Amino acid sequence: MIPTTFGFHSTSDEVAQHYASQIKGKVVLVTGVSPNGLGAEAATAISQQEPKLLILAGRAREKIEQTQAEINKVAPSVETKVLILDLASLAKARQAGEEVESWGLAIDVLINNAGVMALPDRQLTEDGFEVQVASNHLGPFVFTNTILPSLRRASAPRIVNVSSWGHHLSPVIFDDVNAEKNYSKWERYGQSKTANILFAVALSKRGVCAVSLHPGAIRTELLRHLTREDELAMGFINEDGSQGSRFAFKSLKEGAATHIVAAFEPDLQGQGGVYLDDCQIQKEVEDYATDTASLPELYLTTLSLTRTSAQDNAERLWKVSEEMVGQTF
Ligand SMILES: NC(=O)c1ccc[n+]([C@@H]2O[C@H](COP(=O)([O-])OP(=O)(O)OC[C@H]3O[C@@H](n4cnc5c(N)ncnc54)[C@H](OP(=O)(O)O)[C@@H]3O)[C@@H](O)[C@H]2O)c1
Repeated sequence: MIPTTFGFHSTSDEVAQHYASQIKGKVVLVTGVSPNGLGAEAATAISQQEPKLLILAGRAREKIEQTQAEINKVAPSVETKVLILDLASLAKARQAGEEVESWGLAIDVLINNAGVMALPDRQLTEDGFEVQVASNHLGPFVFTNTILPSLRRASAPRIVNVSSWGHHLSPVIFDDVNAEKNYSKWERYGQSKTANILFAVALSKRGVCAVSLHPGAIRTELLRHLTREDELAMGFINEDGSQGSRFAFKSLKEGAATHIVAAFEPDLQGQGGVYLDDCQIQKEVEDYATDTASLPELYLTTLSLTRTSAQDNAERLWKVSEEMVGQTF
């Protein structure tokens, strides 16, 4: 069981220590490990509990190597591997996945952490997809599915999709996933984060335990596209520049703690599809981000939900994603 003492202020180090016996000997892949971000913090905390191998994935080699150097300092005996992965390109996401497959490993944990937020205008990837849906969902959809054989080789594989409170901002807009009719930066971030939750539900239905989470609000490079006006409008700051009261901000170490609970809590193994916040299973998930047709019985009971076959958002998203990426999984 997740200790009831775990919450908002739990830190990545404290939580990793608690799960030391789960982490020891594991092969863990984390995406988006640039310095001062949540992925790097999660990887660094995990590194101190003797994993067998940490695969550090991201689009910028020099940033990954900085995090790798930090890990080498704090956990010199832990093996690390760098994986160049650009999730904004389907070809590159596929290629990186194939590279991982060629290693023939059994991967115990995949943490899909990389992401972008609130690009001011509708920018397109080389594949013609809106950048947030591409980087936050379609790229991870292709990458994860490509490396599923490596995950299935592990005895109890786990996939963690780093979603967000931002999922409250929008459902998946099924009649305009690519924002051709309308672009609003927050709506499109929200759509992509709802997709992270639904993707975990759909993966779990396919026999690999996948969960999602909100790490909390943490000042990282994720906020790089926001203007002062954006921060004021979202309640991140007050007029005088001080921290706004809408969100209680966490430190980086508090933010990455939920990643580690989601990745290593043994009790979540039978509860694929759940969404965590503040290190605990979270009940405040938007209706459109749940899929009562697919959720495990235990989660339905926990949330007092009734199973209905009408709500098949996760399966619908899976099909739409396959069509968009031109590949079936
Ligand atoms: N910070 C928060 O308050 C907060 C709240 C809720 C959810 N989250 C979620 O937490 C996750 C981590 O965010 P963070 O706050 O740690 O932000 P961050 O410091 O900006 O980290 C995001 C990471 O994703 C990488 N990335 C972005 N686009 C990529 C691409 N196309 N291919 C590969 N890697 C890519 C970034 O690489 P570069 O350095 O090269 O850009 C960076 O390493 C995100 O999924 C975010 O949505 C964060």
